[in-house]
Amino acid sequence: MLLYLLLISLLSFCSGFQEEDFLDGQLTLVVEDALDGGPSPIFTPRSTIHIRSVKSGNAVVTHMRQWTHDLEEKLKVLAENDDLYRVRIYHKGAEEKGYVSTFTKACQLYESSLTEIFNLMVDTAGTSVVGAGLIPAVAVCQGEPPEVPAAQHNTTVMIRSPILAPVPDTATYIEKLEAMKNEKAEGKDNRSFLAKYWMYIVPVVLIMMLSGGGQEGGR
Ligand SMILES: *[C@@H]1O[C@H](CO)[C@@H](O)[C@H](O)[C@H]1NC(C)=O
Repeated sequence: MLLYLLLISLLSFCSGFQEEDFLDGQLTLVVEDALDGGPSPIFTPRSTIHIRSVKSGNAVVTHMRQWTHDLEEKLKVLAENDDLYRVRIYHKGAEEKGYVSTFTKACQLYESSLTEIFNLMVDTAGTSVVGAGLIPAVAVCQGEPPEVPAAQHNTTVMIRSPILAPVPDTATYIEKLEAMKNEKAEGKDNRSFLAKYWMYIVPVVLIMMLSGGGQEGGR
């Protein structure tokens, strides 16, 4: 019994381990942004996002540049022109794979003092980012400068994986339904044993009586 339990726990440990391995292809992303606006924005490196675990959503953000007064001014101009703050992301060491892009209204980021959420969608294997969203803390611009001037991007990373989405457990559900149906049926049919099965019992008794009678008669 103990051995059996040990085996079970070992097995579950192994499978858990495998799943973790499978999902935890470590990813390093480079985030570039464009603060100049205009029709052909120039992107410059901004931050790196190191995803340590897709499963637990563990990610470390490192900002590659100082947030200077100059940059703040650029963002302010973008905000005043009601322009967009554009971001693109690529996998470090795999630039040829192309970019994943997103944008937000510059005024939102400006008025949020650079507090933002990066929503990253990874593929089923957890090995590459296939989509991104940028959500600043301020959703509706008020047209006023932030109360606290930003010192640096304040980035929260949220990772979404299609694997992590809960799968409806239909098999168990159907089993439950069946069980409930059975229970109901049993609950309704609370007649006595005799009342339920008389049609089987009566012929058996009759046959027994008849055959018994026949034997007696034969003696
Ligand atoms: C950074 O963002 C968090 C929420 O995402 C917020 O609670 C915190 O006040 C922000 N820090 C700064 C310095 O803006």
